[in-house]
Amino acid sequence: MSEKRKILVTAALPYANGDIHLGHLVEYLQTDYWVRFQKMRGHECFYMCADDTHGTPIMISARNQGITPEELIARNHEKHVKDFADFEVEFDNFYSTNSPENKELSAEIYSHMEKNGHIETRKIVQYYCEHDKMFLPDRFVKGTCPNCQSPNQYGDSCDACGATYSSFEMTDAACVICGTPPVEKESEHLFFKLNHFKDFLQQWVRQHTPKEVANKLDEWLNDDLKDWDISRDAPYFGFEIPGKPGKYFYVWVDAPVGYMSATKKWCASSGRDFDEFWKGNETELYHFIGKDIVYFHTLFWPAMLHNAGYKTPDQVFVHGFLTVNGEKMSKSKGTFINARTYLNHLPPLYLRYYYACKMGPSLDDIDLSFDDFILRVNGELIGKITNLASRAVQMLNKIDSTLGTVPVEGMELIKEAKEKSETIAKHYENREFSRATIEIRNLADVANRFFDAAEPWKTIKTDAEKTRETLTTVINMFRMITVYLKPILPSYAEKVEALFVEEPFTWQSAQQIVENKKMAEFQHLAKRLEKQPIDNIVADSKETVNMDNKPEETIVEEAVENTYEPIAPTIDFEDFLKVDLRVAKIVEAEAIEEADKLIRLKVDIGVETRHIIAGIKKAYNPEDLVGKNIIVVANLKPRKMKFGTSEGMLLAAGPGGKEVFLLSPAEGAIPGERVH
Ligand code: 2FM
Ligand code: ZN
Repeated sequence: MSEKRKILVTAALPYANGDIHLGHLVEYLQTDYWVRFQKMRGHECFYMCADDTHGTPIMISARNQGITPEELIARNHEKHVKDFADFEVEFDNFYSTNSPENKELSAEIYSHMEKNGHIETRKIVQYYCEHDKMFLPDRFVKGTCPNCQSPNQYGDSCDACGATYSSFEMTDAACVICGTPPVEKESEHLFFKLNHFKDFLQQWVRQHTPKEVANKLDEWLNDDLKDWDISRDAPYFGFEIPGKPGKYFYVWVDAPVGYMSATKKWCASSGRDFDEFWKGNETELYHFIGKDIVYFHTLFWPAMLHNAGYKTPDQVFVHGFLTVNGEKMSKSKGTFINARTYLNHLPPLYLRYYYACKMGPSLDDIDLSFDDFILRVNGELIGKITNLASRAVQMLNKIDSTLGTVPVEGMELIKEAKEKSETIAKHYENREFSRATIEIRNLADVANRFFDAAEPWKTIKTDAEKTRETLTTVINMFRMITVYLKPILPSYAEKVEALFVEEPFTWQSAQQIVENKKMAEFQHLAKRLEKQPIDNIVADSKETVNMDNKPEETIVEEAVENTYEPIAPTIDFEDFLKVDLRVAKIVEAEAIEEADKLIRLKVDIGVETRHIIAGIKKAYNPEDLVGKNIIVVANLKPRKMKFGTSEGMLLAAGPGGKEVFLLSPAEGAIPGERVH
């Protein structure tokens, strides 16, 4: 093995006003696998993180809850710490950006910017809310998109058409907090002259970011880089800029400094020297981040560090987002799942295993598909791996719980498993977690085949010693598999360590064979994953939407009443063609007595008539419907309902109840005609 490395690793700092959710965990878990792997290899590897505590949304969120920002931060810090601990994410320090160390380091880094002539002060005009007495960041302004006229869009970009613009271009801009129109007001801001670092960054980005990211950044780096506005006016929850009363560091200035201050705090309590990590070349420094915050970590941040004489990251590892069942996480569908909601129903083991199976070093999104989740956990983690142990150990217990020796034919398997050590290690090192799990599962397949071919359930009746040899082989294979899985499944591995009465496994443990040893009592390792807890998680996630604890983006979003559903994901034209929409004439309509909302319709769709049960009773009288032309989905699978089968669906707008508006074709359309 290579000599001992010193490695400092960070994951992006979660905002202090939001709950940790399964999307966040894509990052915290992969970083955790990687750090645990490095530790098992005998390297010094430290995992730093903190709450990202500053900025307008946190200030407003605290105000809405009637508490101080400090109180809000403290409350959520406790929750975050617990969520991470329960997911077995093991930070060496999880700190806060609202700390004295962070204040001092931010000021120091800024002083270098100023001293070296990289700060320019100039006046800008911004929206200001006279009611709330504050300047409004773009995300605190809403209005009509100047490009596509969609209402209720943010002050910087439109979710509907993707246009970016200045909030001044909106004709009806309103303050998100109070709804009043803001006024234009001038104020002095401090700018960081990022373009002074263009040459440095052009080189740096090539060497220290993934190729895909570097290519993207080249697009920016070919042009002059814009000045970065690093100050915000009071009231702002953050650090006041030294020598600039009433001006505060923009949250993104002191947020990454949080990586350093978490290290500094940890150094103080561990008797380590801060400079050994953040100056010179002694330590490797890696940031794990999502693809949405690349710009901050690969342009501003290295420039800030470089200018202040600190070491810059060796690599910025970038990952994609989480989708659930192939779609963006959705609050209305209950797939925006908080870490705590998951933990209320399931142990971390399953998700830790599943994410690892799906993860690699690419920027692609990863999908949590509930069906696949169940299949993989039950088929692989339980079926292939855990059952290996439970079958073999329980059978050995029938003899006397004592391992014997590995026979010659068993040695071949063991040798194969030992030899996989460096291949699997390489996959971990390269963050090819899914490849690592494939190799590990292959070993489990080999062991299962050996077990089945040896038929120990038969030999146990006639030849206990031969059976013991078979089981010793299989149990050793299981032990080695667990060693390889330990970065992903730490508490599972702990149970296996206890079973073998061993010290914590290191990577080297996979090179040992355990023979002639009495095993401890077999504790249950993991059980099958059922569908019910997942349904419960989804149901709870639908319920737990509350205004108090939203991630930064959503708290702003929902501060304004939003009656518009987000646009559904883009589909291909072929997908659209799958829906057979037809003009239909209502020939009969009858209210269903026993139901509040339902009307039974008979509609003529040209080639045949259909019965459709529709929830439109509150909005329409049956007699008014007869003779009307409407639009129906003609190829929808018939649905059995309490009051009969519905053989189609009609199209209507509106939120429901009395407000349902049936869609009708314009005059001239004939029943049976297709709608394109
Ligand atoms: O995007 C976010 O969630 C930020 N809170 C990440 C900050 S990472 C670091 F730079 F502080
Ligand atoms: Zn306002």
